[in-house]
Amino acid sequence: MKLRSQKWFDNPENPGMTALYIERYLNYGITREELQSGKPIIGIAQTGSDLSPCNRHHVELAKRVREGIRDAGGIAFEFPVHPIQETGKRPTAALDRNLAYLGLVESLYGYPIDGVVLTIGCDKTTPALLMAAATVNIPAIAFSVGPMLNGWFNGKRAGSGTAIWEARKMLAAGEIDYEGFMEIACASAPSVGYCNTMGTASTMNSLAEALGMQLPGSASIPAPYRERGQMAYATGRRIVEMVHEDLKPADIMTVEAFHNAIAVNSAIGGSTNAPIHLNAIARHLGIELTNDDWQRIGYHLPLLANVQPAGEYLSEDFHRAGGVPAIIAELMGADVLPHPDALTVTGRTVAENYVDARILDEDVIRPFSRPLKENAGFINLKGNLFDSAIMKTSVISEEFRARYLSNPDDPDAFEGKAVVFDGPEDYHARIEDPALGIDEHSILIIRGTGPIGYPGGAEVVNMQPPAALIKRGIRELPCIGDGRQSGTSGSPSILNASPEAAAMGGLALVQTGDRIRIDLKEGSANILISDEELARRRADLEARGGYPYPASQTPWQEIQRSMVSQFDRGMVLEPAVKYRDIGRI
Ligand code: FES
Ligand code: MG
Repeated sequence: MKLRSQKWFDNPENPGMTALYIERYLNYGITREELQSGKPIIGIAQTGSDLSPCNRHHVELAKRVREGIRDAGGIAFEFPVHPIQETGKRPTAALDRNLAYLGLVESLYGYPIDGVVLTIGCDKTTPALLMAAATVNIPAIAFSVGPMLNGWFNGKRAGSGTAIWEARKMLAAGEIDYEGFMEIACASAPSVGYCNTMGTASTMNSLAEALGMQLPGSASIPAPYRERGQMAYATGRRIVEMVHEDLKPADIMTVEAFHNAIAVNSAIGGSTNAPIHLNAIARHLGIELTNDDWQRIGYHLPLLANVQPAGEYLSEDFHRAGGVPAIIAELMGADVLPHPDALTVTGRTVAENYVDARILDEDVIRPFSRPLKENAGFINLKGNLFDSAIMKTSVISEEFRARYLSNPDDPDAFEGKAVVFDGPEDYHARIEDPALGIDEHSILIIRGTGPIGYPGGAEVVNMQPPAALIKRGIRELPCIGDGRQSGTSGSPSILNASPEAAAMGGLALVQTGDRIRIDLKEGSANILISDEELARRRADLEARGGYPYPASQTPWQEIQRSMVSQFDRGMVLEPAVKYRDIGRI
């Protein structure tokens, strides 16, 4: 079988170039015999570094991946991926998903790589790497760094992000001080690994397994466990075989695989960032995946994983209870996994991989017959506010339901008065202003926070009510926005609104004081004003040059803004989606 790497290292028709490629790769000790042996060269796309602490443990794990590659008859070439750290990057890590994607596409296309191990973990690293694998379409296997161990504070579980959202409210209510706040935050990060809640990282790693791109059981193993190193070795071995079998991402990430992932997302209570990222990966494979698909395939499915923010446990518990294999097995047992016959990186189907999996702790992973919540998927809302926005129904609390969704004549709808903020700075500057008159009948709206307005989209839609309201026991208000929210947040916000205000979506036209109606049954979200008034506001804003947003701060912000799609279309670089299968020989 012909390998891509032979074009570089063993091409007698072009001895000049072969010599140039060979001589320099020898300089750290690899031999000409190895490079010309016909053994597959396996890239290890390294996302870990000091700048990316969530993925940093991959630097260690890569040693075991290498051993697996070597034992299976391959040669490992490890190389860096542009760093993405969810909590460390200004203005937002989401800006860098497409940048890391572009960089990895160039690396996989332009260097002598026959197959690649994608070291995934922190939120955007997973979609960035899967998107690149989709575009280049050489054999690829994802390998998760694994979540952190459970965090503990005062004998209670302290989960990444979720503990901070809660502690912020306690701080606002005067229940703790700054020191107490910091202590809780630090307690939630006890070891190497990514967020230990079912935030975007655990979600995307679980979905990478549900898509068939990780070895079965790989997603949930905590980063420090020995099984994580053993899985690294097995992954290294398997990618070499995949090169020999010519098993490629497009063979695995089919439309059926995406539908499986949507089902799993409902059952785990996955992040609202998942539709953005999965829709993006799909687009790079030429697959149409829409937010309507998310509602159609996912909404009616139940929540099984009792993991924060939708439940009470953390990732370590989730793993011990059986992890993604238990979830998939449970969905298959109830005959609601859309495509058990989908192919995976093992070369076998989902059904074959997970036939023996089962739940090991029914409190942490509920059986299908006794779910945590019914109808736990996303609703795709539409109306004059936007064409599409996602609401995560699994995090609608009893308190929220009692306050907003308990009118016997209108049980699935609520109305409220809009209070509008233009970006996070405006929100922080004015939220405590008593003149806004915010009460429990208000709906907080934030705009200017989408892919263009706030490059990459800000994770800010889960807005905290003013302190005075929190002190009265009103700890959440309905929130709507064209930005995103952290997967670790338990707010039932309406978010990822597309088109965003900066693209002149309906959010650009809403005004403080407008009445807003949300109808979950109908799937609608509207400003209760006439079409004429809406048209007048639109003409007015267009005459003033459109919805204003701040200038770009870096070259990449400007480039991305000029060609990025909206959240419902994956926030991809539009010119990139036409490039497919570019790694073929
Ligand atoms: Fe990196 Fe949550 S911040 S995984
Ligand atoms: Mg996040």
